[in-house]
Amino acid sequence: MDKDTYILAIESSCDETAAAVMKNGRQVCSNVIYSQIELHKLYGGVVPEIASRKHIEKINQVIEQALVEAGVTLKDMDAIAVTYGPGLVGALLVGVAEAKAIAYAAKKPLVGVHHIEGHIAANYIEHLDLEPPFLCLVVSGGHTQLVKVEDYDSFEIIGKTRDDAAGEAFDKVARAIGLGYPGGPKIDKLAKEGNPEAITFPRAKVEGNPFDFSFSGLKSAVLNYLNQCEMKQIEVNRADVAASFQCAVIDVLTNHAISAAKELNIDKLAVAGGVASNTSLRESLQSACKKEGLQFYYPSPIYCTDNAAMIGVAGYYAYKSGVRHGLDLNAVPNLKIGQRM
Ligand code: KG4
Ligand code: ZN
Repeated sequence: MDKDTYILAIESSCDETAAAVMKNGRQVCSNVIYSQIELHKLYGGVVPEIASRKHIEKINQVIEQALVEAGVTLKDMDAIAVTYGPGLVGALLVGVAEAKAIAYAAKKPLVGVHHIEGHIAANYIEHLDLEPPFLCLVVSGGHTQLVKVEDYDSFEIIGKTRDDAAGEAFDKVARAIGLGYPGGPKIDKLAKEGNPEAITFPRAKVEGNPFDFSFSGLKSAVLNYLNQCEMKQIEVNRADVAASFQCAVIDVLTNHAISAAKELNIDKLAVAGGVASNTSLRESLQSACKKEGLQFYYPSPIYCTDNAAMIGVAGYYAYKSGVRHGLDLNAVPNLKIGQRM
């Protein structure tokens, strides 16, 4: 029998300091996440310098806990995987510097991982049958993309947002109706009490590529609606606004994903990123896939938002295909999907 492969994975691209130990690619031995949300809540969004400072304070502790919970030591690791982009540069640098130091001291190979490739790979953890090719709808705080996953290391972007990411729209609308940061989970919860048909918000169509997205018009429509109500002194039903806004986002995401899958003749659709934990989005994609005869895959919420287990999965496949980074690895805040540096 082949020897087991262990990867220590590190993630620090935004406001989660995370480390995980993965066995043979898809088995989670430990997945430790220190979330900075409480800290950034005070400011209504992520403050980059505060994020970096908190990462440097917590990272060793989080890694130590990941190793202890997995019952392994650095010696048992086959490689060190780390997110090196995209993300906040100061935040990324903490994880990258830490991973390089460990790789150097423990004499282990270093594998840099693309954050979004990690989000996509989160789907492999609980779906052992899932293999490329498949289509993945990536919906996070910074990205909204339809990605054709041709192989474990080969990706083609079929559509992307021209302006705001879906998560960003959730966060901005949540702030406008006084829900605070992060808005996604709060809108998700409040929308359950509202009527999604109460207010008709626009579903933007983008010229050129039918699979591209645009959410800034929708965000402005919500803000206009709120202003109009204020001017006319009409009391705003926040649950209806949340439900109607969420419904507009979900309609567009679902329609684009399904029509892209049909056009490309792909019978497997996955969803990834923080917004993928939205209950109504999951239901909408699930029922549309059922209707169209597509297989639908989604990670548990804990693997949707930022975590290191997903970086470990992507890192494992990169390691197996021979990807090795030198100790000169740098953070690349605008790293493109499928790009190797
Ligand atoms: O993937 P992620 O953890 O970080 C990035 O890589 O950006 O995504 C964070 C985003 C935030 O915008 C947050 O509001 C959104 O995901 N989010 C949600 C939900 N949970 C998190 N959006 C809608 N519904 C949710 N349940
Ligand atoms: Zn993310």
